[in-house]
Amino acid sequence: MQGFYETLFGRRDVRSEFIAKPIPEEVLARMIIAAHHAPSVGLSQPWNFILVQSDAFKAAVHEAFCDANEEAANLFAGERQQQYRQLKLQGILDAPVNLCITCDRQRGGDVVLGRTHQPQMDIYSTVCAVQNLWLAARAEGVGVGWVSIITPEKLRAILGLPEHVVPIAYLCLGYVEHFRERPELEDKGWAQRQPVEELVFTEQWGEQAAEHPVYDALHSQRDWPRQFPQANDIGPKKS
Ligand SMILES: Cc1cc2nc3c(=O)[nH]c(=O)nc-3n(C[C@H](O)[C@H](O)[C@H](O)COP(=O)(O)O)c2cc1C
Repeated sequence: MQGFYETLFGRRDVRSEFIAKPIPEEVLARMIIAAHHAPSVGLSQPWNFILVQSDAFKAAVHEAFCDANEEAANLFAGERQQQYRQLKLQGILDAPVNLCITCDRQRGGDVVLGRTHQPQMDIYSTVCAVQNLWLAARAEGVGVGWVSIITPEKLRAILGLPEHVVPIAYLCLGYVEHFRERPELEDKGWAQRQPVEELVFTEQWGEQAAEHPVYDALHSQRDWPRQFPQANDIGPKKS
């Protein structure tokens, strides 16, 4: 149980700290197996894993990122735009392995148990696989960064995805110099974690839980994650 929480709270989105050390195939395989053991609607397992390791493909994806990032930057005004432009939001060329996790919207046929009234459940299942991989990577001491600042159409063209396959997550994977203790966006003053007790409602949307006993429990345990060892102590020891 302790190890699980250490991994959970030590997981980070990594963009700046990748090192060139290759990821052994066995380690990569374990992370993919962990992803493949995610829950999926009707056990449909709608995912595929596209390993991107060549300079040419990485360069094409990086170019797509740069185009989208420029568009994104221009949507912020004034100082916020300056701050945005100073953020590093991907490690495509730095990470030894890039991995695209896709969702095949035809997997399981026309009628899939659990998808009839909520067809997007295959997408959600694939996101569960992403999180499994992210946590397994952390347990292995491997950093993962999710890059969503890319037009899906461009990613689709670069990776040769058929029409019915959706790119869900483009991930950068690699060993790191260190894992940050807090999200990089928090460290750099972009955003802060919200007090969770303000996000919990009772019975209906908007009904704050202040009178509910869980409110005090959430509040009094707000520093609970800090008891787990420093993020950098988790994972196999560096060689
Ligand atoms: C769906 C999704 C998309 C994301 N896209 C990006 C991205 O394009 N670039 C980036 O730097 N971080 C991206 N992130 C990482 C978040 O910024 C990060 O998870 C958040 O700041 C919390 O930090 P932590 O993951 O280290 O706890 C993404 C995360 C998720 C879940």
